[in-house]
Amino acid sequence: MADLPLVYARASDPEVVRFTGEILSCEQTRELLQRRVREQASKAPFGGRAIVLKSHQLNIGYCGLDFLAHSVERRIELFYGLTRQFWGHGFATEAAAAMLKHGFRDLELNEIVAPIHPDNIRSVRVAERIGLRYRTKMDWPKQGQVNLYGLSQAEYDQSDHPTRNEIRAINSRPKLC
Ligand SMILES: CC(C)(COP(=O)(O)OP(=O)(O)OC[C@H]1O[C@@H](n2cnc3c(N)ncnc32)[C@H](O)[C@@H]1OP(=O)(O)O)[C@@H](O)C(=O)NCCC(=O)NCCS
Repeated sequence: MADLPLVYARASDPEVVRFTGEILSCEQTRELLQRRVREQASKAPFGGRAIVLKSHQLNIGYCGLDFLAHSVERRIELFYGLTRQFWGHGFATEAAAAMLKHGFRDLELNEIVAPIHPDNIRSVRVAERIGLRYRTKMDWPKQGQVNLYGLSQAEYDQSDHPTRNEIRAINSRPKLC
């Protein structure tokens, strides 16, 4: 439960949860954390992972893969989020790029998608920076319509895919995990 203060800082921050859910109380955040830990084995290889700032051993965010909600098709969604004080340093891009690589290389997924509200500009930038491309619109409860971004394994395998260059650029910064 050492992670609780920073996880609560993001779960209770209206800016952070604006496009992803509802503001949680400290007790709700504690229950969420416990649930996530319990779910890890049953959801594997999917589910969320903590983004840890290695130098300070801080849980600064989450990133993961899971089945896309609100869709009849079985597609795999990439998701990510950071406690606000850690925005603007490329941490989400680094984590999302690593998760994308894990999805295509280790899990051999055919496609990875990300549903993003068009007003969630920072998330759109992360998605585009790791090479996801706009696919279509889809209905999303409480948000109306969102834009679905995606990338196929074939697109990822293209040698000039931006993710590869991005990973090289990010590698020049201290590693997260
Ligand atoms: C989406 C979210 C994770 C993006 O956070 P972010 O800090 O903008 O993303 P990154 O960590 O990748 O940082 C990118 C920024 O750091 C800058 N940066 C600094 N050093 C960098 C580096 N080495 N590599 C990449 N970017 C770097 C980039 O220029 C960029 O800033 P800019 O967009 O102003 O140009 C964050 O807004 C968030 O947690 N939102 C709430 C949850 C959410 O909506 N999740 C997505 C649901 S679809």
